[in-house]
Amino acid sequence: MAQLERDHWTSRFGFVLAAAGSAVGLGNIWKFPYITGVYGGGAFVLVYLGAITAVGIPILIAEILIGRRGRRNPVGSLRKLGGPWWSLVGWLGVATGFVILSYYSVVAGWTLEYAVKAVAGAFNVETTAAIPAMFGEFLGDAERQLFWHATFMALVIAIVVGGVAKGLERWNKILMPALIAILLILLVSSLRSKGAAEGIAFMFRADFHKLTGKAWLEALGHSFFTLSLGMGAMLTYGSYLSTKTDLVRAAVIIGILDTLIALAAGLVIFPVVFTFGLEPDSGPGLIFKTLPVAFSEMQGGRLFAFLFFVLLAFAALSSAISLLEVVVAYFVDERGWSRPKATLGMGAVIFLLGVPSALSFNVMSTFHLYPGMSFFDSLDTLATNYMLPIGGLGIALVTGWRIARGALREEFRQPAAFRVWYPLVRYVAPVAVVVILLHKIGVLGYLGLD
Ligand code: TRP
Repeated sequence: MAQLERDHWTSRFGFVLAAAGSAVGLGNIWKFPYITGVYGGGAFVLVYLGAITAVGIPILIAEILIGRRGRRNPVGSLRKLGGPWWSLVGWLGVATGFVILSYYSVVAGWTLEYAVKAVAGAFNVETTAAIPAMFGEFLGDAERQLFWHATFMALVIAIVVGGVAKGLERWNKILMPALIAILLILLVSSLRSKGAAEGIAFMFRADFHKLTGKAWLEALGHSFFTLSLGMGAMLTYGSYLSTKTDLVRAAVIIGILDTLIALAAGLVIFPVVFTFGLEPDSGPGLIFKTLPVAFSEMQGGRLFAFLFFVLLAFAALSSAISLLEVVVAYFVDERGWSRPKATLGMGAVIFLLGVPSALSFNVMSTFHLYPGMSFFDSLDTLATNYMLPIGGLGIALVTGWRIARGALREEFRQPAAFRVWYPLVRYVAPVAVVVILLHKIGVLGYLGLD
């Protein structure tokens, strides 16, 4: 059935803000700083910038292009542009949306708990050793885990049910400026701290000796996750976009905003870490265990901590709505469901799918999907290590090898931009993704190339 009036963004600015909202998330403020810490700083940052430019932005352009030409959810758009077989890539994308959102919401819930903890002054303790332990206690509290997971999913549903212009666009226009304002306030304060020089040096002084093969692959993989690529989120957002918008320009702005915000998050976190003599390489716990120690010792730490966790919550929310939108667009376009039915129904399903993740640190900690890995970690591994790269590979292949070159060229304003982009999406991106996949499966290690 032809849809006469598809909901759409009210302006190019609205689209760019929403797409940047999708891109900027826990990946930027939680994961980017901690992997930068683990992989040693400056050199890793350089490789990451290269991956964003050579692989991330070209695939971002491809996804928006497919959505804008297809005017449908990932399954419908890929069927229309690539044929029935390629619509499988869309199916995989919708499935990935379910998986990622189910555990993303659990982590987003942690940021809400920590915002409340900060206001309540929970980090003002006698001995700072109590702070890392606090995180463990919280993870072990099944009821609190479920409460925050449910609260966050309810927020996501409430926004998505409003539709593209009145839900997604309107809320991104509130969340994104607020996020940027908070980030700037925190940045000014952290750059004036004692550890500022050390923090800046850590992020920008490139020591290539620290760079392992694994760091290259991590940088490449993260460039996908941070730009919301590989499951049709940007494709879906592109399907609501007017053909008048300059695709390349929009994608470059989104990529630059995402990168600047990740770098700014690092520049908020590392100066604080060094000011208080903490370790930058503590991994996933950097935000929830290491940083609150600094919050407890710094002047005005309570406000700083509150703003920081609100920043994280806002970033998570504007990303989570893009994940749910992919699923909703599929049920609306392909199954003819109403938006409220799709949003509430699938939001509830995703909540339930997230329950074992929320409980995987307490009552379900002995339940393993993969040997030795919690349910939560299993889903994260499955989605980011396999589903997203495979989806991204599909997008790159259908664009570079299946859709006619002439049709692609029509979507570009500047011929020069097309000439740069085409070989990147046709050759460079697929090769890069295949290398990531071989690594994840362990083939490279087996061949001794890791
Ligand atoms: N990009 C978001 C982040 O950095 C996460 C995200 C939102 C995402 N939508 C996505 C990741 C779609 C992959 C695919 O946190």
